[in-house]
Amino acid sequence: MAAKPNLESDPALRLFFALWPDEPARVALSRLAKEVAHHGQGRAPHEANLHLTLAFIGSVPRVRVDSLLEAGERVAGAASPFPLTLDRIGGRAYGLAWLAPSSLPEPLHALHASLTEALVAARFALQQRMFRPHVTLARDCSRPAHRGRVQPIGWQVERLSLVVSTLAAGGSEYRNVATWPFRNA
Ligand code: 2AM
Repeated sequence: MAAKPNLESDPALRLFFALWPDEPARVALSRLAKEVAHHGQGRAPHEANLHLTLAFIGSVPRVRVDSLLEAGERVAGAASPFPLTLDRIGGRAYGLAWLAPSSLPEPLHALHASLTEALVAARFALQQRMFRPHVTLARDCSRPAHRGRVQPIGWQVERLSLVVSTLAAGGSEYRNVATWPFRNA
């Protein structure tokens, strides 16, 4: 098992901002992930790891974590809860399958834009690539996923989390560093 990341002593942490599904959505996502992984002869993530990444930061020196905490708190404080529905399976040749919204919901776009703006203002270098929100359902598939519409899975997005990722023997482990509720009711 990996040592738990220590915010006080580790020189750098691998961090990302994420939206976690609620319990019913997590269960539904996990069921779908197992089906998709089985079909693709790949691996489904652990149920507790199923998430949607809003911004991937990568390796962050410990001294910079406070700036991320400030950005997350500010962005969540100005956001309002919104419903999110994922209804389309996609995949890539090299073994990934995911579930995504068939069109980008405006509140998700706005949340991503305000987080990106806050991170750039705090001088974090973000990848300049298009935001393609998704929940990864399977990795290392040797057969391509059945792409297309599926029974929608959704939840009410009400909070933002900063998550630390560590590599353990059984795969990645994720742990919330902080979670902030959306306060703009
Ligand atoms: P993935 O599920 O599509 O692999 C933790 O690793 C989270 O950050 C995952 O959601 C992962 O997306 C995402 N992630 C990992 N590396 C990334 C990168 N270089 N750019 C963007 N997102 C990344």
